[in-house]
Amino acid sequence: MPNGSPPRPIKIGLAGLGNVGAGVFKNIQKNAALIQQRTGADLQIVQVAVRDLGKPRDVEVPAEMLTTDWRDLVNNPELQIIVELIGGTGQAFELVSAALKARKIVVTGNKALLAEHGKELFALAEQCGMPIYFESAVAGGIPIIQALQEGLVGNHIQSIHGIINGTCNYILTRMSQAGLTYEAALQEAQEKGFAEADPYLDVSGWDAAHKAIILASLSYGFWIPQADVYVEGIDKVSATDIEFARRLGYTIKLLSVIRADAQGRVEVRTQPSMVPNSHVLASVSGSFNAVVVQGDIVGETLFYGRGAGQDPTSSSVISDLCDAAAILIYGFRHTGFVPHGLYGKSKPIDETVSHYYLRLLVKDEPGVLAQVATVLGQRNIGISSVMQPEDLASETGTIPLFLMIHDASLGQMRAAVEAISGLGCVTEAPSWMRVETLG
Ligand code: HSE
Repeated sequence: MPNGSPPRPIKIGLAGLGNVGAGVFKNIQKNAALIQQRTGADLQIVQVAVRDLGKPRDVEVPAEMLTTDWRDLVNNPELQIIVELIGGTGQAFELVSAALKARKIVVTGNKALLAEHGKELFALAEQCGMPIYFESAVAGGIPIIQALQEGLVGNHIQSIHGIINGTCNYILTRMSQAGLTYEAALQEAQEKGFAEADPYLDVSGWDAAHKAIILASLSYGFWIPQADVYVEGIDKVSATDIEFARRLGYTIKLLSVIRADAQGRVEVRTQPSMVPNSHVLASVSGSFNAVVVQGDIVGETLFYGRGAGQDPTSSSVISDLCDAAAILIYGFRHTGFVPHGLYGKSKPIDETVSHYYLRLLVKDEPGVLAQVATVLGQRNIGISSVMQPEDLASETGTIPLFLMIHDASLGQMRAAVEAISGLGCVTEAPSWMRVETLG
């Protein structure tokens, strides 16, 4: 616990138990011990507003916690935080406004709501002295909002280039890599829970445009009017365009571009764009998002991660809940090192496991590979491939032998390399290094 005292219960009302809401409910429980140790808060969802009580759900919520009227959350004096995940801009606007007026902290993932009503809602939040947190509104699990608000706070933002709609990126990736039709790829994205309830918002480009408005507004300090934003969707991108782009060395992405010109005028647009394959954004595939932010002091920074889906998006909501809890408990956002007892041991380096590359210089004679393989086999080390390029044989009768090794511990490898060095057929000290699978 940050201050050594028992975790403080924080009572939360959750409006919306769809894909993301269910993820928040589930993951708060899954990582409760960690969250308590790190934040000193026991996050408790005590009331949940849903549209339809009978709908089958991913998570089991006790019936007594459910209500069909979000006003019950606002009117519940026990609740300190209200999480708005109902989507849309009608009831969500009423709910967020009412929650602020009832002096409750608001956490929302609703990008359409903020893009349309951000100006009024933040003015109301200021007036009520209650914060609104919205990390999950942009780029799913990527903490891009905190990055702009905190990590890059000292920079003039010169530009932002982002792939910020997971559904469109998934569709374009599946069309280009698996040859799927647009319709089939969209259906897959819907089945995986990436798409909005109304996928028109995704494929029309508007979901990304809403997120671009939020990023631009945070970066430039005024709410960008929706009417000033240029938006084009991916529905007209054909398999033929994708193929010709590929031949020309480009990948088609739904790209959001935000930048200020020398006169301080801000450009915000979202449209299908050809991105050169040499640029890191071209390799952002599937439901992944990436945001490249150029700041005048920091230079170029890259944020990458899953931009849609239940778990990544709920990770951002939980981050907001922890920030809100810190305000309630300590009066300020808790930062810095927090000791806790859930881990606490270093792994001995000899027990760490990875793949390995091993290069030997050996005598060019029969039986050499068998000797090397025996040493490795005796230590239970598997070989995944072997290469002995004849063109590298030397006139003195030696030849390099390259081996790729399956998972082995450093201890096993050290012992094996020492034994291999001692073989009469090995004529110089072996060269070896880890091959990282980056998983
Ligand atoms: N439908 C959105 C997307 C979900 O595909 O990116 C995350 O905002």
